[in-house]
Amino acid sequence: MQADKWSVRTGAAAVVALFAATLTIDAVAQVGKAAANRAVQKPAAAQTAAIPPLGPLPPVAVPADNPMSPEKVELGKMLFFDSRLGGDASSPCVVCHQPDKGWGDGGEISRGYPGTQHWRNSQTVLNSAYYNKLFWEGNVTSLESQAPAAAEGNVAGNGDPSLMEMRLRFIPEYVARFKKVFGTEWPRITHAWQAVAAFERTIVSDAKKVPFDRFMAGDKKALNESQLRGMAVYHGKAGCIQCHNGPLASDQKFYSLGLPENEVFKTEPLFQITHRWEHYQKGITESGYRNADLDMGLYYQTKNPKDIGKFRTPSLRELKYTAPYMHNGILYTLEEVVDFYDKGGEDGPNKSPLVRKLGLNAQEKKDLVAFLESLSMDTPLLMDTPTLPHYAPLKGARK
Ligand code: HEC
Ligand code: HEC
Repeated sequence: MQADKWSVRTGAAAVVALFAATLTIDAVAQVGKAAANRAVQKPAAAQTAAIPPLGPLPPVAVPADNPMSPEKVELGKMLFFDSRLGGDASSPCVVCHQPDKGWGDGGEISRGYPGTQHWRNSQTVLNSAYYNKLFWEGNVTSLESQAPAAAEGNVAGNGDPSLMEMRLRFIPEYVARFKKVFGTEWPRITHAWQAVAAFERTIVSDAKKVPFDRFMAGDKKALNESQLRGMAVYHGKAGCIQCHNGPLASDQKFYSLGLPENEVFKTEPLFQITHRWEHYQKGITESGYRNADLDMGLYYQTKNPKDIGKFRTPSLRELKYTAPYMHNGILYTLEEVVDFYDKGGEDGPNKSPLVRKLGLNAQEKKDLVAFLESLSMDTPLLMDTPTLPHYAPLKGARK
């Protein structure tokens, strides 16, 4: 059968066997059509064969030099919510990564440090523990090094590390907690980032609450007919699996979808200031700096013109809670996202050949959205604000 042929090609035999058994006749027909369609499109066979299947997330990998403990996670949670890890009292991690906004900030472009404007959409912290490349540009490789980049970044936390460290040393409860967790006499700022990273490793999807994961675990009723058809469209005619693959639904590679820039960059000085400033920080050519009208993404890392407009593929888990979408937040709903891909993206530089007109009909689009929703938990991961400890005046020497 077509579905079998397709499973061989994707190398995802196990997954396909599992869901092919459940697919309706209709959906199998879709897969068949999709296979035919793809044969016409001639995707690179080697590439297709190497695609890792979607599937349940494995346990989070923990680095050997930052082991987990409940006390460390609790401390990290407090620090994530504590505005003293930042320049003024305005910008703890949580203001841009709010649990009730899908652990992002809910805006197209993130808020910035007071008096500034950020220039990109705030990514969700949910499942960030699974990436080996963080940020839209993929320029940081661990949560331990991401946290100081955020807390010190001038348009994010804007905190000075030695000042933040001194603040922690004047909070007796933190002094006691750091001592217990890290064994040091006084809190160290690098340990604060380790604790935050440990906390973030607990902000992950709960497979029991994710319909797709329940389906993969054997609950055949976890996905409805529309979602099953959507899964076939995802793997077949729409080709989303080519980039959004593996348990995270991200290959962690970089592509340009040809997205247009968010209009605010054309009209709002604060956005333009940050755009210019980022170009200056990232050290690009003078003409690039002066003609700052596009977020060039991966290019800032490589300085290779072929990387202009490329961004790291994001996970498709928990999308129900993380709108708006894309590095510049220009798409508000999953319907808009699917329409964008269906028309083959737009004409930005270096657009991936994998983004092409799909010719999906209304039912296929609806089914695809329904499937995407099945990758989110039934209920959002919410969290109470922890009680934060107070400063106390100096009594005796603090080193
Ligand atoms: C002023 C808003 C703001 C603050 C404060 C902030 N962030 Fe972010 N965060 C963002 C934005 C915007 C991005 C995407 C930036 C980019 O790609 O250039 C991001 C990206 C991230 C990512 C990467 C996720 C991924 O998918 O790669 C993590 C993790 C993260 N932030 C954690 C934190 C932590 C921890 C703190 C506190 C130490 C923090 N953030 C503070 C706005 C903020
Ligand atoms: C060529 C690789 C590629 C293909 C094929 C692809 N995507 Fe993407 N997708 C990406 C990249 C890269 C981004 C981030 C782009 C950006 O922000 O500039 C993205 C972003 C998204 C987002 C936004 C997620 C967020 O957190 O903001 C959604 C939703 C999405 N894709 C769904 C899909 C669907 C549905 C399909 C199939 C119709 C698909 N993608 C096909 C690479 C791909």
